[in-house]
Amino acid sequence: MNWRFTLLVTPLRALLAAFAVAAGVLAFGWSGLFNVAATTGHWPITDWLLHFVMVNSVKTHTIAVETPGNLDDPALIARGAGHYASGCASCHGAPGRPRSPVIREMVPTAPDLDAKVPTWEPKHLFWIVKNGVKYAGMPAWISAEEREDEAWAVTAFLLKLPGMTPQTYKALAFGAEEDGSAGGLTAVAPPSGPLRPDILADCARCHGRDGAGRDGDAFPVIGGQSRAYLFDALKAFASGDRHSGIMATTAARVTEDDLKALADHYAGQSWTTTRAPVDRTLIAAGERIAREGVRATGTPACASCHGPAPTAQNPAYPRLAGQHASYLEQQLLLWEKEHDSRGGGAFRGIMRQIAFLMSKEDIRAVAAYYASLSSGE
Ligand code: HEC
Ligand code: HEC
Ligand code: HEC
Repeated sequence: MNWRFTLLVTPLRALLAAFAVAAGVLAFGWSGLFNVAATTGHWPITDWLLHFVMVNSVKTHTIAVETPGNLDDPALIARGAGHYASGCASCHGAPGRPRSPVIREMVPTAPDLDAKVPTWEPKHLFWIVKNGVKYAGMPAWISAEEREDEAWAVTAFLLKLPGMTPQTYKALAFGAEEDGSAGGLTAVAPPSGPLRPDILADCARCHGRDGAGRDGDAFPVIGGQSRAYLFDALKAFASGDRHSGIMATTAARVTEDDLKALADHYAGQSWTTTRAPVDRTLIAAGERIAREGVRATGTPACASCHGPAPTAQNPAYPRLAGQHASYLEQQLLLWEKEHDSRGGGAFRGIMRQIAFLMSKEDIRAVAAYYASLSSGE
């Protein structure tokens, strides 16, 4: 038996057989007999096989993924919902908004997620949102590697999606704005000109018309930040220099003139912030860093550029007094992690260097200190 087998299957024959199979596949492709029409859909066996491969791929690739403990945070859910309206609902539909008939003709189609979400664990959903699904038309997250925190925000929202009422969805995704004001994937780029109400309405869904934000610390305060800083930040989001899938979706679809008009609008608002209650000892430690820096790590005093100080401020240095602690902390951690892709202005190199040298504890303390200041300081 053994000698017969070795006689029949020689390495050369195996190689020739492999070539023959490859040539056969190529010839079939070349003949044009395979029908790529989406009208006929997949055979049930192909459907089953693709789903089987996808489910197992997701499970295997998430073995080492750790699920954060804050997926119930209302701010995270609101941030995820805001993006869902501009980046996902156009394919998957949303509560009270059925999927488009065009999307239903996709093979495979983007499913209604109400029924699908409960079939996955949170880390599976996170992985799908971050990485997308090849051969299926499910896109990966913009800046997937850099912004896992944003993919988790969308996951936090997805977990609340099954059974959500249209009213709850509207409040979470649109804030005080009218339904249908989402830009992103759902709209073609409007022509540029003076500030267009439909573009402002899209920003206002998350930041409010006054730029003060909503839902606690879900969105950074932008009203009253300098025009130069706002414009630079928006351009950097649009070009991908500053990584954020949420902000790229909304900023990259309008022209530079529109971004200028938006920067004008928000710079003209007053800087209104709410002081969050934070730990006193942490604030005191943060104040020391802000006023004196940290000699051991060569961290300069933040106050020399960001205040509070009576000196005239360079408009390229953003205001931090009263900004949300979680946002400040997140930005500094991002800078530390991938110190090549934050900020938008000409002086961003300085800030990268500073954040890169900071410890996590110092970052937490200084963020708490700035958040505790009132807007006038
Ligand atoms: C261009 C259309 C499109 C967009 C935009 C899109 N998806 Fe998908 N999505 C798909 C398609 C198609 C599938 C089906 C993949 C499959 O069956 O293998 C899918 C699958 C999924 C699944 C897995 C569902 C399952 O169990 O089969 C989840 C979860 C998901 N998408 C979430 C999202 C989220 C969240 C967003 C926004 C960040 C998003 N999708 C944006 C097309 C899209
Ligand atoms: C879906 C919600 C959402 C929408 C819509 C949105 N933003 Fe944002 N915005 C965010 C989030 C979240 C961040 C924080 C990004 C980060 O972590 O880098 C942000 C950050 C910003 C920043 C940077 C703030 C800083 O201190 O550096 C500016 C400026 C800004 N947005 C302006 C706008 C404008 C103008 C629009 C309309 C074109 C808009 N945003 C639409 C959620 C949104
Ligand atoms: C020499 C001036 C300088 C010093 C000192 C400085 N920064 Fe900055 N910082 C900047 C500039 C410039 C930017 C804006 C970068 C950009 O986006 O172009 C910035 C941005 C930031 C941001 C992002 C704000 C936002 O709205 O997204 C944070 C947070 C920050 N700095 C914190 C700090 C802290 C904390 C310290 C002290 C440890 C510090 N900075 C020291 C110049 C400075």
